[in-house]
Amino acid sequence: MTKAKVSDLDFNNLGFGYHDLPYRYKAEYHDGQWQPGELTTDSTIHLSESAVALHYGQEVFEGLKAYRRKDGGVNIFRPDRNAHRMHNSAERLLMAPYPEDKFVEAVKEVVKANQDFIPPYESGGSLYLRPLLISTSPEIGVHPGHDFLFTIFAMPVGAYYPGGLAPTAFVTSEFDRAAHGGTGQAKVGGNYAASMLPGDNAHKAGYSDVVYLDPREHEYIEELGSANFFGITKDGQFKTPKSPSILPSVTKYSLLALAEEMGMNPVEEAISIHDLDQFAEAGAMGTAAVISPVGSITHEGKKHVFFSETEVGPKTQALYDRLIGIQYGDQEGPEGWVQDV
Ligand code: PLP
Ligand code: COI
Repeated sequence: MTKAKVSDLDFNNLGFGYHDLPYRYKAEYHDGQWQPGELTTDSTIHLSESAVALHYGQEVFEGLKAYRRKDGGVNIFRPDRNAHRMHNSAERLLMAPYPEDKFVEAVKEVVKANQDFIPPYESGGSLYLRPLLISTSPEIGVHPGHDFLFTIFAMPVGAYYPGGLAPTAFVTSEFDRAAHGGTGQAKVGGNYAASMLPGDNAHKAGYSDVVYLDPREHEYIEELGSANFFGITKDGQFKTPKSPSILPSVTKYSLLALAEEMGMNPVEEAISIHDLDQFAEAGAMGTAAVISPVGSITHEGKKHVFFSETEVGPKTQALYDRLIGIQYGDQEGPEGWVQDV
């Protein structure tokens, strides 16, 4: 893999792809404790063929971003929330959690070390950070490992869904990504492995991603392929699904707070796929997706169009402007949401 060079990048046309940047952070867990971690230039991982992560999926990950401000400084958005979620994900898979304060420090080190790769403010891009925790122990029985590797690497990114704020079309699937009582609340690779076939089916049929329904009744909206769902009712209320098998999205909890501030009376509640008529607008929300308008949802061959298939709705636009205003440092947000790097 060739190392990325700033001069080869077009910051105004970044997709969502891997770039081998100069530095990543790595720390190892042996003998019951985390060893001191450090920045390294080595973007490869040397693993036993029998590492538990490879066979039984004992691995968890995170996603967060750093933003170049107008004044040239750099913000990271709520890294403590990702540190905490990774802790919970690790506990779900019986892994040694990486200490949350050290997680945030390591994020900052990786951002600083790769700062030439943070897209300029005007480009609308950001530096995506991918913390990863894997079980490296050689085990062939289905047992939790005792050795772990924690790493954080980074890459400059643009829009996750092509078109950015242009609405895209979604479709429900007969498949589930996570079971009731399974690992849906944890950010584990297995959930994403389960989503690849339905995702591919959706893409081949011309949709940008899947709307997963609840695994017990296939009646209630869970989440989208790689984002949580929200709808804005005709009288302006912000609603998002409540379910034990979806990812507790940092963006969702942030928007629940901002929607409250904006008088949108937000709620988390079960949302039936048969009750889409209540919504004037709908969207996907997540770190990679930011806010991406959902133009339509097709369920059992019937297409439901929300605000428009080509234009973003006014409430979705207002939430987007407020969220990225805070992330890029143009607007003051609730205390502690952004950290200067
Ligand atoms: N749901 C899924 C399945 C995701 O992969 C993501 C992305 O992280 C989200 C929701 C949104 O979570 P967050 O806002 O913390 O990025
Ligand atoms: C994120 O938004 O950070 C995600 O994890 C989405 C992703 C799987 C690309």
